[in-house]
Amino acid sequence: MTQPFKHQIGIIGGGQLGKMLIESGLPLNVEYNILEASTDCPSARYAKTFIQGSLMDDNKIKELAAISDVITYEIEHVNVQTLIELEQMGKTVIPSASILSIIQDKGKQKQFYAQHGLATSSFEVLNVDAARSANLDSYPGEKIVVKSCKGGYDGKGVAILTKEAVQNGDAESIFQGEVVLEAFVEDAIELAVIVARNAQGEIRSYPVVEMVFDPEINLVDYLFAPSKMPETVQNKATELALNAISAMDGVGIFAVELFVNKAGQCLINEIAPRPHNSGHHTIEACYTSQYEQLNRIMLGLPLGETDLVSPAVMTNILGSKDLTGDYRLDGLNALMSTQGAYLHWYNKTSSKPGRKMGHFTVLDESLESAVAKSQNLRDQLKTVKPD
Ligand SMILES: Nc1ncnc2c1ncn2[C@@H]1O[C@H](COP(=O)(O)OP(=O)(O)O)[C@@H](O)[C@H]1O
Ligand SMILES: [Mg+2]
Repeated sequence: MTQPFKHQIGIIGGGQLGKMLIESGLPLNVEYNILEASTDCPSARYAKTFIQGSLMDDNKIKELAAISDVITYEIEHVNVQTLIELEQMGKTVIPSASILSIIQDKGKQKQFYAQHGLATSSFEVLNVDAARSANLDSYPGEKIVVKSCKGGYDGKGVAILTKEAVQNGDAESIFQGEVVLEAFVEDAIELAVIVARNAQGEIRSYPVVEMVFDPEINLVDYLFAPSKMPETVQNKATELALNAISAMDGVGIFAVELFVNKAGQCLINEIAPRPHNSGHHTIEACYTSQYEQLNRIMLGLPLGETDLVSPAVMTNILGSKDLTGDYRLDGLNALMSTQGAYLHWYNKTSSKPGRKMGHFTVLDESLESAVAKSQNLRDQLKTVKPD
């Protein structure tokens, strides 16, 4: 490590997660190089060097690595083969390429949990053509979850079908190649635990967050912390998340998504090897945000405190359903006049239905009042056609 932080960090991907990672590194004087296909992505204007290219492009990733001390990624869908090669050449990739290659494949992820005794809903991995003839008797209930092993995000790549539909071959019209068939967790409560681990082996978790989903589009509507689940459940979720990251020997920031079933058991759903939507609130609500934490890890510094300084609610601002293209934001003044409300706008040039355009976090003395303020603002913050 050089003082004072003359580091250059290379980020593969130029989306909002990269933008917030950079924002948290600016006080530390870190410089960032970015690889992204589009020059008008959220973080392009922060880049010391911006490399335009596909996140799959071997040469472009190597170009980024050549000018950066350490490489990270803010999305899973990047060329992991190139990252493996870079590591062999002595470059530090955080989190490591071997972890990314497990996480890129939902089948391998589930197998990892099963092999390491980490509770997860029952599953099998098969080619989608074989799904219709699979024996579904051992899966509880009427529904079954089918997930594409590769390429999914934000609910795309996940289908919740009836067993009958699977037997009729419906999965084949949705997916190609390998899929995970997974027991549907009925009335699941969804939790997330962000875990930070550095190369020195220090590990810390953030307080459990609880998510509320928009059932129509399968995206997080809002999330809050602290969770309202009983302490025993929260402790179990935290333990499971810490065990999972320890089992992976993970270095970096990881978001562990979990389900709590009706019996109160915690099951790991999936892990993201990067800052995550479920940790946006940590920017204002925790002593050290998930983004600063990742910067510290990449700089070889000690981890920061993860405690909450206040109850918090984070709400995604999604592109309006009936709008594609130019937009303006309605409701901004209401947000700006609300005590404890913080806006993060991602600088996306066009609005699309359900697209993550920004988010806001509300801090308040009680969780109830933070939720009430958030819901009031949520109804007003919309992307609308420009005048
Ligand atoms: N086994 C399951 N039981 C119940 N709901 C599920 C299950 N798997 C996924 N879901 C629902 O679908 C959402 C998206 O699935 P997930 O595997 O997290 O994919 P993504 O990579 O798109 O986030 C979950 O957050 C949850 O709401
Ligand atoms: Mg998910």
